Amino acid sequence: MSGITLENITEAVINHGDKGKTNPRLHEIYTSLIKHLHAFQKEVSLTTAELDIGRQFLFKLAQPNHDFPMGEIHLMTDCLGISEVSILLEDAPNHGTTEMNVEGPLFIGGLPERPNGAKIGEDANGKPLFITHKFQDKNGKPLANAIVDVWQPNGEGNYFVQRENLPEWNFYARFHSSANGELNFETVVPGDYPVPTSGPTGSMLQQLGRHGYRASHIHYIVRAEGHPDFTTMMYFNHSPYVNSDTIFSVKDFRVDIVKHDKPEEMQARGVDRPFYTLDYTFIIP
Ligand SMILES: [Fe+2]
Repeated sequence: MSGITLENITEAVINHGDKGKTNPRLHEIYTSLIKHLHAFQKEVSLTTAELDIGRQFLFKLAQPNHDFPMGEIHLMTDCLGISEVSILLEDAPNHGTTEMNVEGPLFIGGLPERPNGAKIGEDANGKPLFITHKFQDKNGKPLANAIVDVWQPNGEGNYFVQRENLPEWNFYARFHSSANGELNFETVVPGDYPVPTSGPTGSMLQQLGRHGYRASHIHYIVRAEGHPDFTTMMYFNHSPYVNSDTIFSVKDFRVDIVKHDKPEEMQARGVDRPFYTLDYTFIIP
């Protein structure tokens, strides 16, 4: 097509090809994306100099850095709420079940298997937390022998992958639920943490006056027979960031922990400081 103008360029781009014969779904996504991108450029009258800043920004996002060996594209989609919109769309048909959530960029394959009841990490300054979970379906049927992956930061908000001084696989675990769908483990109350801000994402947050904190949470993936893989995050109500989490993923899956500080309780648990407990039953879609 020649005679390109501001009025016809969007249609020209969309129709430049076989209009979806090769890949209908890709063409549907592409068409909408082009429409919105061109509309955005027109709305803000994007200059060529500003477009170049955007190009440089995307280039930097894709570069490996200290915190993200695969670059920051995943982090950026989280901080823009893009990851959460897809989760909300996918979770919308599910009713009465534990809500889905994003996996986040710090899941790693090959989690160490730990026995039901195990302690999942070491943190000399941590607040001990004893967790009891049940896993069941919508009808209340226990999910026996479900594979449950758990990962979280330590009490200071650091994942072991981000700090060379932390033991390998600290606070990462793979469990199997028991025959009656139960799982207990010992951990510490996870700390709030900022997303790494030394790269382009941090620069964006700073220039927008946004804080980069994630509210305290634990990540889970549950694989139960007959159910699709289920990924979620459990948030803690006591976190000061529970109402302003930087990836917009705090919804209704929020829990309270119960403090225990009587000497006889501490002795019975074998801990030398006040500890916390938490019970939560997962309803898996
Ligand atoms: Fe996390």
